[in-house]
Amino acid sequence: MTIPINHITTNFSDFKLDKSSITQIVLLTGVILSAHILYSKLTSSPSGYPLHAKAKNKNGQNKTKSKNKEHVKLTKRQLASYVGKLPLDPIYIAIKGVVYDVSVNGGRRFYGPGGAYSIFAGRDASRLFSRFDFDEGVTQEELDSPIDKLDDLSPEEQDSLDAYIQLFESKYERVGILVDN
Ligand code: HEM
Repeated sequence: MTIPINHITTNFSDFKLDKSSITQIVLLTGVILSAHILYSKLTSSPSGYPLHAKAKNKNGQNKTKSKNKEHVKLTKRQLASYVGKLPLDPIYIAIKGVVYDVSVNGGRRFYGPGGAYSIFAGRDASRLFSRFDFDEGVTQEELDSPIDKLDDLSPEEQDSLDAYIQLFESKYERVGILVDN
């Protein structure tokens, strides 16, 4: 039996989103976001280290930075160089003004070169995390503009951002703060 291909047509002008479809999309996005953050939490030990993290130091403890470098101040432009180009280079991500070292506790796998979330490395990822969104990567405009004040976030975006902050606080070390040029 042959199926004539010219019978399969799509008229995109007929494609309209009604209210219930929009609600379903919003709910689905929420479910995916919660599910993958929950998954990430569940695969972490009570101390916040992922169960699969094998990195240990000489004493058999998980590798973390012993020195507190929270006083380090980085501009967006300086932050942009912390993308872990070489295997031992640190990878930093800023959220709401706080800079985290995400190259420990299995983070390099996500944020290092070629990782699923490498797009967030060396950047202030706040707005992308709040919108549960990816983009094309850091732009000149982003580097030249002042730090995003995030004062226009919706309650849902704020919640999304807070969930990522919670994850970062439990898994990574604060190493500094983001400052304007
Ligand atoms: C359909 C889309 C997505 C899927 C299926 C997905 C899936 C996952 C999974 C399975 C994990 C846990 C990995 C692990 O712990 O081994 C994870 C973690 C994560 N996801 Fe997603 N994700 C998606 C979209 C996004 C988006 C759009 C963002 C940000 C805007 C995002 C940000 C993150 C972050 C920050 C982590 C935590 C990584 C860490 O532990 O440092 N994801 N995701």
